[in-house]
Amino acid sequence: MMDWPERVFNDKGRAAPARARRGEPISALIDRRRLLLGAAALSLAPVAAAAADGLGFRPLSPSIGPREAVAEGYRRAIVLRWGDPLWSDAPPFDPSRPDARAAARQFGFNNDFTAFLPLEDDDPDRGLLVVNHEYPNPHLMFAGLQESTAAAEMSLEQVQFTMASCGMSVVELRRTEGAWAPVVDSAFNRRVTGTTPVRISGPAAGHARLQTSADPSGTRVLGTHDNCNGGVTPWGTVLSGEEGSADFFGGEVGGHPDAAHLARNHYADLEPHGRYGWARADRRFDINHEPNEPNRFEWVVEIDPFDPDAAPVKRTALGRFAHEGAQCALAPDGRVVVYLGDDWEYEYCYRFVTAQPFDPNHRAANRDLLDEGVLSVARFSAEGAVDWLPLVYATGPLTAANGFHSQGDVQVETRRAADLLGATPMDSPEGYLPDPKTGRIIIALTGAGEDRTAGTNAANPRQGNVAGHLLELVPPDTGQGPDHAADSFTWSIFALCGDPAEPGEGARFHPDAGPEDWFEAPDNLAFDAAGDLWVCTDGPGRRNHDGLWVMATEGETRAWPRLFYSPPAGGECCSPAFTPDGSGVFVAIQHPAEDKASLAEVTARWPDGDPTLPPRPSVIFISRTDGGPVADDRA
Ligand code: FEO
Ligand code: CA
Ligand code: CA
Ligand code: CA
Repeated sequence: MMDWPERVFNDKGRAAPARARRGEPISALIDRRRLLLGAAALSLAPVAAAAADGLGFRPLSPSIGPREAVAEGYRRAIVLRWGDPLWSDAPPFDPSRPDARAAARQFGFNNDFTAFLPLEDDDPDRGLLVVNHEYPNPHLMFAGLQESTAAAEMSLEQVQFTMASCGMSVVELRRTEGAWAPVVDSAFNRRVTGTTPVRISGPAAGHARLQTSADPSGTRVLGTHDNCNGGVTPWGTVLSGEEGSADFFGGEVGGHPDAAHLARNHYADLEPHGRYGWARADRRFDINHEPNEPNRFEWVVEIDPFDPDAAPVKRTALGRFAHEGAQCALAPDGRVVVYLGDDWEYEYCYRFVTAQPFDPNHRAANRDLLDEGVLSVARFSAEGAVDWLPLVYATGPLTAANGFHSQGDVQVETRRAADLLGATPMDSPEGYLPDPKTGRIIIALTGAGEDRTAGTNAANPRQGNVAGHLLELVPPDTGQGPDHAADSFTWSIFALCGDPAEPGEGARFHPDAGPEDWFEAPDNLAFDAAGDLWVCTDGPGRRNHDGLWVMATEGETRAWPRLFYSPPAGGECCSPAFTPDGSGVFVAIQHPAEDKASLAEVTARWPDGDPTLPPRPSVIFISRTDGGPVADDRA
């Protein structure tokens, strides 16, 4: 049995850190944010009028090449780098002497998702940044390793160091003279790693298929990994998607007692010790040694950043697949709706609706809201309807005849259940975001390979869709706002990505968009205060660099993208998160130099430029040089 510190699970009634805001609904914050932004926009109206293109900034040239740049009139600052200390007892950053205990006291690696949560209503210079650390790049973390052989050649200390560098971070930030910096030793600071105790809740908790030799209860697991994107709940907790777990496991799928299930979940040709060597440090990551361990991953994890002692919780009601993110909206009756994409070629788009409504007045009442409700999967019709098909045990084909003996079985094998219901295979759903102003939902589909074995369909119309596309979903309006819990929505194509000038590509943005105003492989999405859509790409593609693009979703310039920021070479910009005061946007820079196969090949050691340091994934903050709001209300 593993050692389970009891206090971790005893989170009921625990006193919050002295200055945490408890019981404060995020909806109230959002209202205040709009007020603040409205006031700021009035005072800065001449700047917006002087903007080059109606978006409030002069765009970068998309042919800038693989180098870091931000639109004219803006600046970027480094906020947090991999290895920065979160506590004063953290040893100095030194991956040449890998020490897992040191890494667990430092900011983690490969930051993808970011959420910024204000700590106090009256202090715009203070907040909590919650960040996902998705996966390691051992060959870029340690000298002397090659990408192709790193898993086998890493030392045990290096493997354990990578386990402590993944997971999540919660970091208190403070802004002094315009510069955000971590508050070292803040009571809110927290690292969640590959070995942190995590509770499992919901319909699959305790299921026989989640039980292991270390945890016969099937309710407690060590760690979270492959934390991709996420979301923020209306009660101010953060959701983190465990995505594509197979890379972290080793072994032989053919020799596994549940091989068909693993194959359906894209476990194939595993490396003997996993892609990052984790099975060498902990045999539970060997699927033949601990056959049920994979079933304890690929869930959505909920973490309360305001309570550093509360265990993170895997919410099995939200299904098991390659979770990209988990974005929330409220139905008119107060039930919480979570949009969930399965980021894999030909996988599905899901939605979860809670059984009970959100209680804005009692934060604690929402603690287990995500344990009970209905998970549905989307079927897109050629006539423009999205039908939500409920994944409910003992209904339709989800019965013992098909191997489903409980709701827990449906949750563990969400994908097979969705297959049986006739869900629509999608071209890798990533960003999946309700617009807080209109209620419409944008889905970013990164793309799919040339051999679209699933065949095209109306919502994924291109064979060999390497550039991806954006869909727009519209829930019915009940008169009291968009009904995110309705059984049926409508859908249309917002943009078909790629180069519209390329013959046969079928790309489509705004018809008047300039010859360079196009992107491919859309991934993370955000809406700014003006309602414009920010899109991060993931796949350097034909331009050999990723980018952060901005475009209107309504009006004369709808779907006309402009490049705002270009990340450093080999890096990807992820998850724009605006400060509530509109003064700027946090962006995560993941895997700088990932285009290189070893550290020796990396000449530009972003962001430090120090040849003795590796390139470091970092969180940046972009703001206007004149101090005005980034997302001024241009609507
Ligand atoms: Fe981790 Fe789907 O990107
Ligand atoms: Ca993604
Ligand atoms: Ca990437
Ligand atoms: Ca990505």
